[in-house]
Amino acid sequence: SIPLFTTVAAFRQWREAARRDNKSVGFVPTMGALHDGHMTLVRRSLAENDLTVLSIFVNPAQFAPHEDLATYPRTLPRDLEMLEAQTLSVPPATRTPSAVFLPSVHEMYPAGIAQDVDAQRGTFVEVKGYGAQMEGKSRPTFFRGVATVVTKLFNAIEPTNAYFGQKDIQQCLVLKRLCADLLLAHPDPAHLHIVPTARDPADGLALSSRNAYLSAEGRQLAPALYRALGAAEQAWNAGQPKAVCVQRATDVVAAAAAQKSDLEVRLDYIELNDSDSLEPLDGARCAEPDSRPVILSGALWIGSTRLIDNIVLGDA
Ligand code: PAJ
Repeated sequence: SIPLFTTVAAFRQWREAARRDNKSVGFVPTMGALHDGHMTLVRRSLAENDLTVLSIFVNPAQFAPHEDLATYPRTLPRDLEMLEAQTLSVPPATRTPSAVFLPSVHEMYPAGIAQDVDAQRGTFVEVKGYGAQMEGKSRPTFFRGVATVVTKLFNAIEPTNAYFGQKDIQQCLVLKRLCADLLLAHPDPAHLHIVPTARDPADGLALSSRNAYLSAEGRQLAPALYRALGAAEQAWNAGQPKAVCVQRATDVVAAAAAQKSDLEVRLDYIELNDSDSLEPLDGARCAEPDSRPVILSGALWIGSTRLIDNIVLGDA
């Protein structure tokens, strides 16, 4: 079975051995409750590295006090079974994940961690200019928590390559910025890979651990977010300005919500942002030839569950 490491010190011995043997190490950080979206990252890592490490750590610093830290799904036995079953034939051998890093909160936050930002002590990492828009508007301390824990994880794992999902596109761009700005070598920014979003093949819903919170009715409504992004994309491709694209997306969600009047549905945002700087596009902006790709993203509340999704426009 896959070796489990619960302390940084124990993991570092494994890491030293890998270095002595000249093995590349791919890394997939997660908060557990694994699904096929996570497994697409695992398979990419298996294909591209000699060894693959997955971490499972529900990071308190990225949950605001009112968020779902206590109820976030924790399914460790099932997660481990999924990982044990994941093999990939990469000639000359068949690979499986090589190690799981499963640290305690104390291991990751030796100075302790308070949920209330004002009560926190110790070291935090902030990527200025990337954390206030899109997801950051509703979750102002989220990316500080992500950047902090991922810096710690990178220091513990020292990956050759690291894999993140496009589903959380802002997270990917924050972390690429972080690797470049902090001059990280493990991984360097070119070795931080963004993997396309895995979706339900039937209706396009982006796979997410939080989908498990949805009722049957909520699950039926959920793909409206991806359809809304598709409608905005069509408008964008037809040369409509940003404001019209956002309206088209809003209309799709409103129509879907009207058919499920017993559900509490609220579109948190639909945004268009530059794919490099994450700056919001101004309201009049249309698709322009030769311009940089644009991130079209959104978040949707269904009851007390918050879903996010995005697509990249003009990424030829
Ligand atoms: P978590 O939500 O568990 O996601 C772990 C990784 O899986 C992230 O890189 C995420 O983008 C990716 N992922 C999730 N759903 C996906 C899908 N449908 N298709 C492709 N990739 C998908 O993201 C986190 O954890 C945390 O913020 C973490 C980076 C671990 C830091 O705590």
